[in-house]
Amino acid sequence: MRARQVPLFAVDQEEITETQEWGTFKDSLRAPIHNWFTYPAGFSYKAVESSFKKNGIKEGDVVYDPFMGSGTTNITAKKLAISSYGVEAHPFVFRIAKTKMNWDIERDDATRALKEIEKNVRGHKRDFNGRDKKGYLETEFPELVLKCYEESTLLDLLFIRNAIVNGNFSTEIKDLLLVGLTSILRQVSTAATGWPYIAPKKQKTTSLNKNALYEFSRQIGKMVDDIETTVYEANPNYKNSFHRIFKADSRHTQELILDESVDHVFTSPPYLNNFDYADRTRLELYFFGEAKNWGEISENIRTKLITSATTQISRDDPRYNLSKVLEEACPEVADFLHKSVSELGKIRLTHGGKKSYDHLVSGYFNDMFQVIAEVFRILKSDTKAIFVLGDSAPYGVHIPTDELIGKIGLGVGFSDFKIDILRTRGEKWKANPQRHGVMLRESIVTLLKA
Ligand SMILES: C[S@@+](CC[C@H](N)C(=O)[O-])C[C@H]1O[C@@H](n2cnc3c(N)ncnc32)[C@H](O)[C@@H]1O
Repeated sequence: MRARQVPLFAVDQEEITETQEWGTFKDSLRAPIHNWFTYPAGFSYKAVESSFKKNGIKEGDVVYDPFMGSGTTNITAKKLAISSYGVEAHPFVFRIAKTKMNWDIERDDATRALKEIEKNVRGHKRDFNGRDKKGYLETEFPELVLKCYEESTLLDLLFIRNAIVNGNFSTEIKDLLLVGLTSILRQVSTAATGWPYIAPKKQKTTSLNKNALYEFSRQIGKMVDDIETTVYEANPNYKNSFHRIFKADSRHTQELILDESVDHVFTSPPYLNNFDYADRTRLELYFFGEAKNWGEISENIRTKLITSATTQISRDDPRYNLSKVLEEACPEVADFLHKSVSELGKIRLTHGGKKSYDHLVSGYFNDMFQVIAEVFRILKSDTKAIFVLGDSAPYGVHIPTDELIGKIGLGVGFSDFKIDILRTRGEKWKANPQRHGVMLRESIVTLLKA
């Protein structure tokens, strides 16, 4: 077992600086297709490319991302004619990835659909003239959505949404249009919607009087351009690669992916930092009618994801006791976790919010244990699984996620692991007495299968 603190792929200073952003979505926001949806949890496509290159992953090989998110690993693989599997449990995020992976869209079909939508929306606007906008919108949307838009913009968005949903389009075109509409939702909102939280009280004046139909048409045009550019730049053999992506749970992939069928894993699991993936898509879920309130978001999304936020936890659920399989396979990790969980159990009672960080920690590692065991089963021998992740210090108790994930890897059968630090975080907090003084880090954990 080794824990080296040097950047895994870096060979010179320029690359070292570049790797600092690998855990963030910044590079992907500048790249065609990748940038169709601003996913705050997404990582850099350049990190994926670099990992493929350094590990000799080439055309014809097969890669897997058990936390596919918006599809960064799979899109990058497809462009290089590398086949891929991907699993994503958040239904809304899965639809984004699925749409980004479909490059068989004809410009003429998209243009025809767009014309139909424009005609339909203009017709509805004419018919609606003089009627009670406010009353109508109130029957359609929860308060949060109403607060985020000017009435006329929201009405246009609603007409566009209905024209897509009720239109007679192929599933592929419908998905493209729905993702296009998703892409502009935050752009045309007057709320200072800065990710990750929506702050409807603060107004974004640049979005006042935005024409939603115009922005939508422009976005669809850009998406079709992006597909054409990507296909042009891609390895022409990409058509021979396969891409099987599943709306599923990466803890349970026995029925989906065969034993020893994958050459490389590149992924970023949810970090242990209380980031609520379901809540971060609240505006979109409410707008599309996929959820109306907190309860429905919990039921439809939170319950499907691995434990990574205290909002997922109900304190009397036994699944937050450290699992027997983890205890048996990784006694050293279990020992450390028992101590940390017990400490957190006491500390939480001294804080006003009494957050369930104790259960968060045990639930997170129970779930990650299952995913890592599945990744081991799926990988061929003499391969690597690469996890980009961050550690955390809930209520000031440091949980070195990278080391623990490495050691869990050894427990499920990997022969070795190494840790490379991408960047450290927390310098700024040191002076703040409200915050803990623990320096945190974002790392790459490489598990080696012999
Ligand atoms: C850090 S994000 C990955 C983002 C991705 N690398 C990208 O660039 O878009 C982690 C993802 O894991 C998903 N997830 C959480 N629990 C899961 C589970 N049990 N199975 C599959 N995906 C899950 C979350 O919904 C989230 O999209």
